[in-house]
Amino acid sequence: MLGRLTRQQTKFVPIALGAAAVAATAFYLNKKNFIIKNDSKKVFVGDNQWIDLSIEKIIDESHDTKKFIFKLPTEDSVSGLTLASAVLAKFVTPKGSNVIRPYTPVSDLNEKGVIEFVIKHYDTGKMTPHLFSLKPNDTVSFKGPIKKWQWQPNSFDSITLLGAGSGITPLYQLAHHIAQNPNDNTKVKLLYGNKTPQDILLKKELDSLHEKYPQKFEVVYFVDKSDNKDFKGQIGYITKDYLQSNISKANEKTQVFVCGPPPFMKVNSGEKAGPTDQGELTGTLKELGFTKEQVFKF
Ligand SMILES: Cc1cc2nc3c(=O)[nH]c(=O)nc-3n(C[C@H](O)[C@H](O)[C@H](O)COP(=O)(O)OP(=O)(O)OC[C@H]3O[C@@H](n4cnc5c(N)ncnc54)[C@H](O)[C@@H]3O)c2cc1C
Ligand SMILES: *[C@@H]1O[C@H](CO)[C@@H](O)[C@H](O)[C@H]1NC(C)=O
Ligand SMILES: *[C@@H]1O[C@H](CO)[C@@H](O)[C@H](O)[C@H]1NC(C)=O
Ligand SMILES: *[C@@H]1O[C@H](CO)[C@@H](O)[C@H](O)[C@H]1NC(C)=O
Repeated sequence: MLGRLTRQQTKFVPIALGAAAVAATAFYLNKKNFIIKNDSKKVFVGDNQWIDLSIEKIIDESHDTKKFIFKLPTEDSVSGLTLASAVLAKFVTPKGSNVIRPYTPVSDLNEKGVIEFVIKHYDTGKMTPHLFSLKPNDTVSFKGPIKKWQWQPNSFDSITLLGAGSGITPLYQLAHHIAQNPNDNTKVKLLYGNKTPQDILLKKELDSLHEKYPQKFEVVYFVDKSDNKDFKGQIGYITKDYLQSNISKANEKTQVFVCGPPPFMKVNSGEKAGPTDQGELTGTLKELGFTKEQVFKF
């Protein structure tokens, strides 16, 4: 039925559809509420299949981080991921062992044809030296989704995102989808820590998100040190005093999301106890009166 509808007709379909059809979620709505596609074009559907995606482009993001743009199988494929999710990447070493690591897309989850990741290089790592050796047209196997947090628009009045380094990726995924959704009124405040201004990832994207949605999205950059006079932000770590006077006070109408390297997690929220175990809330956020439920560690 859906396949035969014209563009004109699809405008009215969301209202006319019965509950059964809606439950099947076999289609997406774009910004104008046109039906634009169905399940068969979603790439990551939890079917446990590895799918090879080829690299379209690799762009320098900072001295140790690159943006990888992969082609989805067809030009009108979409990731099929829901907010907020990651996927697994795999490569098989020459000796035949599997290296599998999760990565978080930073492109729009409904974008057609491509999926983008921002990935930091670790000299002694297993996956990232391999990824950084690849060229356009090389492929990487992916599977997913890994659902991290099921975001519901307007479930909070405001959220605070605390990030450091490449921990920005899931926070950016949340921030740009919320800010761009005209039906989501959640106010988003990101505090983003890095070593120096040159280490800040996705800065262009973050700044333009704020310019476009100044009422909904705010970002404050923190750097350990700066030799750049033009740097606009805070020098030093994110402190308890800063958080106390500058983020929404702990209550059920706000939520904090944290993502960063172990020392950053330790100070602010305590580390996760395992991939699917949030562990106890400790650190600054606990001292500020947040409960374990009010803080999510990516
Ligand atoms: C849900 C999720 C989403 C993620 N999303 C992203 C993302 O979007 N972008 C991103 O860049 N990363 C992301 N990560 C991290 C990513 O999955 C990998 O952990 C990261 O890329 C490092 O992988 P690697 O194999 O290169 O390094 P690994 O081999 O896993 O090594 C990781 C670290 O351990 C050190 N190390 C390695 N071997 C040793 C050793 N023998 N002794 C001591 N130290 C050692 C390395 O130097 C490095 O610092 C995400 C992680 C999770 C859990
Ligand atoms: C869904 O998309 C596939 C491939 O793009 C198409 O063959 C199929 O007919 C579509 N299904 C419906 C119900 O529109
Ligand atoms: C990648 O493949 C496309 C299409 O097959 C080709 O036009 C292009 O030159 C290739 N790029 C590289 C860097 O090999
Ligand atoms: C709150 O934020 C403002 C603007 O970033 C900053 O100048 C101020 O010092 C912060 N408050 C504290 C107590 O750190």
